[in-house]
Amino acid sequence: MKHLLINLFPSSKSIYYLWLLLNITMDTMDQSEKRKWRPLERMFNEVPGRYDLLNRIITLRLDERWRKKAVRECLDGNPDSILDLCTGTGDLVLRMAANVNGETSVHALDYSEPMLKVARKKADKKGLGKIEFVHGDAADMPYETETHDAIGIGFAFRNLTYKNPDRDIFLGEIYRVLKTDGRFVIIESSQPSGKVLKVLFRFYLRVFVAGLGGMISGHMGAYRYLAASARNFYTPDEVRKLLLSAGFKKVIHKSLSGGIAGLTVAIK
Ligand SMILES: C[S@@+](CC[C@H](N)C(=O)[O-])C[C@H]1O[C@@H](n2cnc3c(N)ncnc32)[C@H](O)[C@@H]1O
Repeated sequence: MKHLLINLFPSSKSIYYLWLLLNITMDTMDQSEKRKWRPLERMFNEVPGRYDLLNRIITLRLDERWRKKAVRECLDGNPDSILDLCTGTGDLVLRMAANVNGETSVHALDYSEPMLKVARKKADKKGLGKIEFVHGDAADMPYETETHDAIGIGFAFRNLTYKNPDRDIFLGEIYRVLKTDGRFVIIESSQPSGKVLKVLFRFYLRVFVAGLGGMISGHMGAYRYLAASARNFYTPDEVRKLLLSAGFKKVIHKSLSGGIAGLTVAIK
């Protein structure tokens, strides 16, 4: 490469050294620094103020019921270590911590410090000091390979996978830090199979989630993204195929509330 460049162009020596420097810099960067596409990060830093209230309003409090089911799946088999990935304001991990036995270590990770601040405050208020909160990126988690028996993710799998060019990096990291036979538990919006419910759901997303959510939160863009990504998100079968192609050996999907949400358990 060096000789070819230098022989072809008179000023190519400097180009070659520039190219070399660029390569060395790229090699010394860690995974998260290489990721340039993080437009959602700013959005999540802006919404924590009314995030919990809006979750309750736009799901008509159904999210609490769905979360309870996800926690039950995460705690199945009495795990030694569990992680709530993309914990946000901590709604899932607080439930996990309140229900584990004393031996289980409980971890939560998110890349938004404002979201984590709210989560830590809520944990302190409830006396759930055992949760280890980490400010980090799902693309490059600070955990050893095969650390956790279960990883739960609440309403963020869509963010990591829907039109996200780093989707495979996230799935690879999740698979890496999960123990063999461990459970990856996803609670996420889904696609209702019934035609009528599908039309109603889409109308609801457009009018209430994008419109009302945007107005109450003061962040129209964030709630427009939420509505659009939920409307176009994968079907249960597409989620299953995605997880199987990421290496999981078994995927179980349970439809919730007519299919507007889904609980997926993938076994490593
Ligand atoms: C829609 S919120 C869900 C929060 C929470 N899990 C819940 O159940 O309400 C998505 C969260 O994922 C976090 N997030 C998105 N991409 C992330 C990434 N690559 N690494 C870490 N956190 C991420 C955001 O900061 C945000 O807090």
